Amino acid sequence: MNIEQWTIEKILNWTQVHFEKVRPDSPRLDAELLLAYVLDCPRLDLYLRADQPLNEKERGAYRELVQQRAAGCPIAYLTGEKDFWSLTLEVSKATLIPRPDTETLVETSVEKILEWQQTHPKATCNIAELGTGTAAIPLAFCAELQNLNIISVDCSAETLKVAARNLERYQNLLAPRNNSLKLVESDLFSAIKPAANLDFIISNPPYIPTETISTLQVDVCQYEPSIALDGGTDGLFFYKYLLKTGPSLLKRSGEMILEIGFDQQVELTELQDHFPEWTPATFLPDLQGNIRVCCLQLEC
Ligand SMILES: C[S@@+](CC[C@H](N)C(=O)[O-])C[C@H]1O[C@@H](n2cnc3c(N)ncnc32)[C@H](O)[C@@H]1O
Repeated sequence: MNIEQWTIEKILNWTQVHFEKVRPDSPRLDAELLLAYVLDCPRLDLYLRADQPLNEKERGAYRELVQQRAAGCPIAYLTGEKDFWSLTLEVSKATLIPRPDTETLVETSVEKILEWQQTHPKATCNIAELGTGTAAIPLAFCAELQNLNIISVDCSAETLKVAARNLERYQNLLAPRNNSLKLVESDLFSAIKPAANLDFIISNPPYIPTETISTLQVDVCQYEPSIALDGGTDGLFFYKYLLKTGPSLLKRSGEMILEIGFDQQVELTELQDHFPEWTPATFLPDLQGNIRVCCLQLEC
């Protein structure tokens, strides 16, 4: 094909067909996201400018990204951004890419925090989050709620740098809404004092059994940081830790809300038998009907 003929429309069509063969999950969307990124325009503009030819520099940059995507690199790592809840978050190869699945955890938590706020009018709600990544979860809370005091920990300094830039990007959700969000580098909750008097513990911890990681699709196992995935030999390391440690950090009748793997309900229920400080867990499904959230409350 003559170089002048590589218009936006033609290059998108060509890439879609290419991705259908090698990365068939969302070929058109992937092509559009990459081209919009190269042209620095909203996706919709690709249709308004469909007949516009690409110059050599644009074609070169796009070709490079298409090759990386074809090799398996997730789109979010190529564009450096991912939409989550109502936010557009910076991501890097040091962070997990926030998943739509995690919006079930956000939705459940927002409802529970709102209920808590109704019984504690004007009080500040104290929350700790284990494994914040891009700060997707606490920022989504701040987009919906006010009067929150959140400490979010992560053991990865690189991840926390990305989280800090996301906080910077969404300053408008913090002080103006009387929300405080503090990022702390910490192995587990070691940096949080036992007398923390928390109302909620929230976490989407790593929960993939170590040996399963290499069987996940290439996008995940070769590109996402294993520290964000690896839940130990049985995938339950962080749940055991949280069930054991939670009671010393929470107020009486405090609550813990956790994302779990779609097949972990039975294991979590059995695990909970060893921790009688908690009332029986309730489990909630995502929009596909998979159980993805586990809610626990301390016995009064
Ligand atoms: C599954 S990712 C969740 C990220 C983010 N909350 C989300 O939902 O997109 C788990 C996070 O836990 C962090 N992490 C892993 N081990 C940890 C540890 N021992 N202490 C603190 N954070 C840890 C990882 O760096 C990663 O950011």
